[in-house]
Amino acid sequence: MTANVTVIDHPLVQHKLTLMRRAESSTAKFRNLMTEISMLLAYEVTRDLPLKYEPIETPMGPMIAPLLAADKKLVIVPIMRAGQGILDGMLQLMPSARVGHIGLYRDPKTLTAVEYYFKVPHDIEERDMLVVDPMMATGNSAVAAVHRLKETNPNSMKFVCLLAAPQGIRNFHEHHPDVPIYTAAIDDYLDEHGYIVPGLGDAGDRLFGTK
Ligand code: URA
Repeated sequence: MTANVTVIDHPLVQHKLTLMRRAESSTAKFRNLMTEISMLLAYEVTRDLPLKYEPIETPMGPMIAPLLAADKKLVIVPIMRAGQGILDGMLQLMPSARVGHIGLYRDPKTLTAVEYYFKVPHDIEERDMLVVDPMMATGNSAVAAVHRLKETNPNSMKFVCLLAAPQGIRNFHEHHPDVPIYTAAIDDYLDEHGYIVPGLGDAGDRLFGTK
């Protein structure tokens, strides 16, 4: 079940995730933590980015130094709305990345994903794509978003979340076994409303203070 899933078990990530889970954490605190943890997730998911070597001058003299081979070729696509919480932190580490958006809402009755917004950069074939959403619960939004984004034919694709439920991972794998998942934790199960348990509640509401 855990093939193609990387759990980012770095102590800083785990610590910050626990602070986010705490029901008493305020909106401001939750949002800050989301930004910080997103930077750490970005650090891990970009481990395999290729480097190029260029001559530079340091104050001490010349050297051949590594740079990202394609730093302008990344595209981050948050699944609205909670995915936007991951954007700031990632962009702080990767300021040249382009950004796409996909808007999906979860039908509360069927728990299926319905698309209401879609905009991505036009030259997507050359880009490595990070699709981001804090919560992979049923996996239906992730499956639908990745299905739609595959139509744009990016160079590569990874899915990044904070928390995943086993059911969501199974669902995602069934549809997109080729897309690696990066998550900070895999939780226990979904409740009858499709919320992750123990989870952290509704990530969008906690980020934007809408409840
Ligand atoms: N979306 C959330 O924000 N939280 C969950 O637990 C599940 C889906």
